[in-house]
Amino acid sequence: MKNLKNALLLKQLYQLKQLGYRYTDITPFQEEKVDLALPDTLESLQKQALACHLCELSKSRKKVVFGEGNPHADILIIGEGPGATEDSSGKPFVGRSGEVLTKMLQNVLGLSRNDVYITNIVKCRPPNNRVPTPTEAHTCQSYLLKQIALIQPRLILTLGATAYHYLTGDDTGITKIRGTIHTYGKATLLPTYHPSYLLRNPSAKKEVMVDLLKVKELMGKW
Ligand code: URA
Repeated sequence: MKNLKNALLLKQLYQLKQLGYRYTDITPFQEEKVDLALPDTLESLQKQALACHLCELSKSRKKVVFGEGNPHADILIIGEGPGATEDSSGKPFVGRSGEVLTKMLQNVLGLSRNDVYITNIVKCRPPNNRVPTPTEAHTCQSYLLKQIALIQPRLILTLGATAYHYLTGDDTGITKIRGTIHTYGKATLLPTYHPSYLLRNPSAKKEVMVDLLKVKELMGKW
């Protein structure tokens, strides 16, 4: 709730900045007039996200890519942000990176996309697939945190440096942090490489395999 309050305040400040204000005594928006509570079901949360205009990405997106999969999944997969295919379809990881991810889930973990839940740090495509800015990531974070609270996964698998960094606030490089096991609230958190990195560096597949075998080992204990 505090995140949403901050996001709304930030939005208001950006709007004033765009209007030319450099300093202002704005009265922070009136809390009592705004319902700050995010919905308590994934469906209503998605509905709210689909109508979101809290950041710049909402201006250029075609579709909001909220996330999809099993709402009670043990495994939550978090990527960076939608690409062009995802922006057109409204579904996460359905382009070339998505093919790699789907195959990894199937071949190593014996899971289909419907067994897990897949989402991203930001729900709207950053233009030209650039990395989301800190403002965009923090504005969108309320949705992600509520998704985590509602799904209550046992394991969170972050894909790539951006997802790990924005979820945890830790900026340790991905090469160093991948494959290490952390606690995130009640869940275990495991960072690994992003599938798009594997498309560019196929030799890194063996490291991702090692990481996924750790996931498999954890699954065996549930
Ligand atoms: N890359 C991501 O990080 N997320 C997607 O949904 C697709 C590509």
